[in-house]
Amino acid sequence: MSHEEFPTEPPAVVTCGLPYANGDLHVGHLRSLVGGDAYARALEKLGQTTAFVCGSDMHGTPIAVNAAQEGIDPEELALRYHEQHAAQIPQFNVDFDFYGHTRQPTNVEQTVAFVEALEEGGYVYEKEILVAWDPEADQALPDRYVEGTCPYCGEHARGDECDEGCGRHLEPGEIEDPRSTITGNPAEYREREHKFFRLQEFQEYLQGFIDRLEGTENARTRPREWIEGELQDWCITRDIDWGIEYPGREDLVLYVWVDAPTEYVSASRQYTEEVGPDVYDWERVWKEDGEIVHVIGQDIIQHHTVFWPALLHGVGYNEPRAVVACGFVNIAGEAFSKSRNRAVWAEELLESPVHVDSYRYFTVTGSGFESDVDFSWGGLAERVNGELVGAIGNFIYRSLLFAHREYGGTPDVEPSGETVAEIEEAMERFRGAVNDYEIRGLGSPLLELARYGNEYIQRAEPWNLTDEDPERAAQVIRDCVQLSKALAVLMEPTMPAKAAELWDQLGEQGSVHDAPLSAALEAPPAAFDAPEELFDRLEDDEVAELETALEERVEQREDEDGSEGEEPAADLEPVLDERVPFDTFQSMDLRVGRITSAEPIEGADELLRLEVDIGVETRQVVAGLRQLHDVDALPGTRVVLVANLEKSEIFGVESNGMVLAAGEQADLLTTYDDAPLGTRVR
Ligand code: MSP
Ligand code: ZN
Repeated sequence: MSHEEFPTEPPAVVTCGLPYANGDLHVGHLRSLVGGDAYARALEKLGQTTAFVCGSDMHGTPIAVNAAQEGIDPEELALRYHEQHAAQIPQFNVDFDFYGHTRQPTNVEQTVAFVEALEEGGYVYEKEILVAWDPEADQALPDRYVEGTCPYCGEHARGDECDEGCGRHLEPGEIEDPRSTITGNPAEYREREHKFFRLQEFQEYLQGFIDRLEGTENARTRPREWIEGELQDWCITRDIDWGIEYPGREDLVLYVWVDAPTEYVSASRQYTEEVGPDVYDWERVWKEDGEIVHVIGQDIIQHHTVFWPALLHGVGYNEPRAVVACGFVNIAGEAFSKSRNRAVWAEELLESPVHVDSYRYFTVTGSGFESDVDFSWGGLAERVNGELVGAIGNFIYRSLLFAHREYGGTPDVEPSGETVAEIEEAMERFRGAVNDYEIRGLGSPLLELARYGNEYIQRAEPWNLTDEDPERAAQVIRDCVQLSKALAVLMEPTMPAKAAELWDQLGEQGSVHDAPLSAALEAPPAAFDAPEELFDRLEDDEVAELETALEERVEQREDEDGSEGEEPAADLEPVLDERVPFDTFQSMDLRVGRITSAEPIEGADELLRLEVDIGVETRQVVAGLRQLHDVDALPGTRVVLVANLEKSEIFGVESNGMVLAAGEQADLLTTYDDAPLGTRVR
């Protein structure tokens, strides 16, 4: 790596933190994916040879735990989400040169090669340690299988990360008061033999590295505390069977944080295999002098500035030039929660009336990349309507419309010195943003140029000049067309599809993606057609609808907060061993119903006669709810009814079905949303 200004002679790689293939993507993930994409495109605009790579993180307990919850194989879950992510990410115009996954043979091979090189270098040793163990589930509890208290800050934490507090990585055995996330039981400890990476030996190297490291401020300062304090050796194996097997040890898999960043190398390598080493040479990048830029969220700074560079150094590879870390996207000040559906999903954005490039503009320019931000549809709409529609789109539209009407395209004069200077300044700010890793600065010159243009056109009033002073009118419009072209070139990293549309409107040939930054100052074609408005306004009712849907979810979360820290019931029955085929389950006809009346049955203390509307008909059912529920409050309650149970007679009353309820207290099963009465439950 050169530390010279971009563009450099050595090629670059830009990577994004690999999303875990264990759930849907949300706007939190998109912030660094879009930021990374804009950055990689911006480097290319400067003429830098760049590969932009990423992939799915398939291993680790995040996948194993979710797969267990769904009752499926981790591989099936991970492949399903990998395919979903790989298809969805390009819809945000995030254009990876290679999007692989960590189970691909190239990555398995690369990871094993790294581990073997570390072993050979004497950087790995074995040690017996105490690991958390669930006696009931009879398994080890690495990472997300255990929760407890962070020994550093006292906050609630996961086994390997203090995700709600200080953000530190935690080593096995460090978490206090560990509880199993499988059974909820306090964890016990067992002695196991694990592999350790001698991180301590890299302290001096890391101190030098962090002084050299470029990128955002957070990534260059936060790690100092860890690097300059007491470094602990790093446990790189786990006792689970989901992951890449440790070479020569069938009983251990590698910790996911070994094979995950290795995918950055493997993806670059697979890109070279596709395009050939003359186009892109992964070996030069990773083993020699390439410019490695990691774009991530701030929660994984430690992994990218401590563990990963030490590992690369241990195997004799090149080191990262920059780590660019974004702040978190929250909702109303609180973190996303996948399990509670408290997030703004990528899917929702794609289905919304918001154009993906408008969203890209919003996320790239919204605030400094390092700040935490609250996502709100209202905030997004304000920026889209004010900046994209009101300033940038409006300037381009009125300029090109006027140019087309009066001149059939670009007036035949040279642009003025003042306009050229204005464009040069915007290009300079753009170049500066790339070199300072300032993601917002990639998009902010757009608004500045458009504001300049709008003021200029407003001041010059070319529509009043066409008769009186046609030369001046032509000059003004010529300048505005040049400004529009400069906007197209500068827009490409942030809004690639919109830039291409504008390029087309200008009658340009070729692709704006391939146009270098200097094209901003080249003359646009002499002839072009009538333009169309580039951006669509978001209407108030559209925004209100999106906001209401999100607010409802946030409130739901608040309602549920009372039940946090729930304990499992005492004396739980073990789950039945005998499995039933799916067909057996399907033979039960379960329906959504509503209790329409409830009355005691004479002579039976426990029993009620219920009438339950199940859409197709109303059923009379006898249920043992009398002592456990407020009888008068029952009518109106939504329930789930077994509709094809054999009829029976109880205390002389016919019972034609059964309502489902949990436990001794007969906690009635109800529906989460309002599925229509009679809907089958599956
Ligand atoms: N798999 C690891 C990364 C391995 S990199 C070798 C991981 N996965 S993740 O799915 O949890 O996150 C993927 C990326 O999105 C990471 O860069 C992470 O920091 C980022 N973000 C996830 N949630 C986020 C927010 N709510 N806000 C901003 N970025 C967030 O970590
Ligand atoms: Zn902590």
